[in-house]
Amino acid sequence: MVRKDGQLHGYVDVCPHAGWPLAIMDNYLTRTKDRLLCAGHGALFRIEDGACTSGPCAGQALEAWPVTVRDGVIVVA
Ligand code: FES
Repeated sequence: MVRKDGQLHGYVDVCPHAGWPLAIMDNYLTRTKDRLLCAGHGALFRIEDGACTSGPCAGQALEAWPVTVRDGVIVVA
């Protein structure tokens, strides 16, 4: 899960390139914190929709994991 501009977004932690988990040491974001980063081969993903914007899986996307906030509690489907 990642929050941007007050919106919560959830994704399955599997890169569409080679199926690896995205992060090493729980670091999922770029230094500028404007993209999700796959540590495997450097793919970058938009936080808002999980689209891969750069790297070996450009044009693909992370699988969304529906999340909502209900009474201040994060609820996953
Ligand atoms: S496994 Fe993510 S870019 Fe290759």
